[in-house]
Amino acid sequence: MNLTIIGCGYVGLALAQRLQPRRPQLRLTLTTTSNERLEELTPLADRVQRCDATERTQLLEVLRDCNSAVFCLAPKGNRQVDANGYHHTFVDSFTCLKSLLPQLPNLRQILYTGSCSVYGDAQGDWVDEQTTPEPGAGHGDVLWQSEQLLNAICERQVCILRLGALHGPGRDLDRRLRGLAGLERPGSGSSFSHWIHVDDAAGALEAALDGEWTGVVNVVNDEPIRLRDLVARSLSRQGLAPVRWLGEQEPHPEGRRIRNRRLKQLGYRLQHPTLDQSGVFSSSQMP
Ligand SMILES: NC(=O)c1ccc[n+]([C@@H]2O[C@H](COP(=O)([O-])OP(=O)(O)OC[C@H]3O[C@@H](n4cnc5c(N)ncnc54)[C@H](OP(=O)(O)O)[C@@H]3O)[C@@H](O)[C@H]2O)c1
Repeated sequence: MNLTIIGCGYVGLALAQRLQPRRPQLRLTLTTTSNERLEELTPLADRVQRCDATERTQLLEVLRDCNSAVFCLAPKGNRQVDANGYHHTFVDSFTCLKSLLPQLPNLRQILYTGSCSVYGDAQGDWVDEQTTPEPGAGHGDVLWQSEQLLNAICERQVCILRLGALHGPGRDLDRRLRGLAGLERPGSGSSFSHWIHVDDAAGALEAALDGEWTGVVNVVNDEPIRLRDLVARSLSRQGLAPVRWLGEQEPHPEGRRIRNRRLKQLGYRLQHPTLDQSGVFSSSQMP
């Protein structure tokens, strides 16, 4: 198999590392948009190439000989990117990909790590892959447009993995939530959040490649958790002062709970089914 991973950030890199034992039978190409990362990625791949996926010649070059492509893109930089930035990264890249398909007869399989944010609000109800996304305006809508571009590619195997929020080494929750200790926050914190460990994001991608999954698959753990519970448990575990929720009106007080049934039906077994398997974070399980 010739595989190209476009975007080797947190998830793309985890996938590349996971696939190392399968080389050299697997010919792996990794991409980065920056010269500084070429050296870091070189030991992990047969080929490391600079590629901005919105640029036709660069994208064609990295996809020309491959059978499978995994798009793990996200806007660059630590600052919050607005919807236009999202549009450029996702919609422009997939528009570029679609325009190149006639020149890519060997490309059979296209995978994309999308986001559960496409679901929008469902007043706390359960949603699954059959639920029509209603993301509202903004980032979620751009991601939904991006999915639709890929879904319209009929002549290849396309799989969209809708990831929950990522956690794992380097993105551990306690460190990220510590800064909230003792603060007042608007709202009640009652909206549900969904998490996935980076090992499971990469594991599901590998399973999708091997199993030739198609369509949409939610990749979240078994534990939708309300924001206030997530924060309270993390701060309490760290011996820090709780957040005081001010209880004002919120636009989406409940959010939605996302089912991962299809992921399991496809045979994937989560390595990290809950945030804390020791029970500190145990919460309502999926029905
Ligand atoms: N982070 C989350 O919690 C979360 C939640 C839900 C879904 N997701 C989805 O998961 C995917 C991966 O997330 P992540 O956290 O691994 O992202 P990340 O660490 O920010 O990595 C994204 C990579 O995309 C590359 N990139 C950016 N613009 C590009 C372009 N125009 N062309 C080619 N490559 C480009 C960058 O490469 P270089 O820096 O090497 O140039 C960067 O390393 C995203 O698609 C995101 O939608 C993430």
